[in-house]
Amino acid sequence: NTIINRAGKERVAKEVADIAKNGDIIGAGSGSTVYLTLFALAERIRKEALHIEIIPASNEISMTCIQLNIPQTTLWNKRPDWTFDGADEVDPQHNLIKGRGGAMFKEKLLIKSSDKSYIIIDPSKKVERLGSKFPVPVEVFPGALNHAEQEIRRLGASEITLRLAVGKDGPILTENGNFILDVRFDTIGSGLEQQLKSITGVIESGLFIGYDVEIITAE
Ligand code: A5P
Repeated sequence: NTIINRAGKERVAKEVADIAKNGDIIGAGSGSTVYLTLFALAERIRKEALHIEIIPASNEISMTCIQLNIPQTTLWNKRPDWTFDGADEVDPQHNLIKGRGGAMFKEKLLIKSSDKSYIIIDPSKKVERLGSKFPVPVEVFPGALNHAEQEIRRLGASEITLRLAVGKDGPILTENGNFILDVRFDTIGSGLEQQLKSITGVIESGLFIGYDVEIITAE
């Protein structure tokens, strides 16, 4: 995808890379901002001979680590000291919509597993009301598609779209082998994340309500 305000993002990417200390285990979400931050981290690792390990949220980010010679580990082996990620929407209370890249399940897992998380955005991601630009992505076990869709409608969804793949016929499959429903809601209440999660067959959603995250904006 295109990187908005590349120079600003590169500056912030360097700032976030500067947070890293020798020995840190760092969770990395996905998307272009994470990609840029990994470049800044790789440079520090090389220049300062730092021992850092990344836990990636997606194959894309894992492959970037391989390309940049950044060692990786998994949530089975280690707990992240901190995590950095991007977002698709951020409201004034720092609630987020994520999942444009389809990796929200692992991204949420990394943020939940970390004591500290940084969300790097450009100003275009700031919204007054969550859901005003992006739909809420919901990862659904394929066999539960009809049931999940019916239950999501009961929660007040105004539009539900099965995300389609590019370069393959039919729906997109997440790295966990699931479908994604992009769901529009007229209002997103504070309980919606939990309500979605309680539907049988819903793996996770891209709603991050009330998480303790630090927002860093590339102006
Ligand atoms: C990926 O699934 C998303 O949650 C990303 O964090 C989000 O799309 C941000 O991407 P950019 O950094 O490319 O804007």
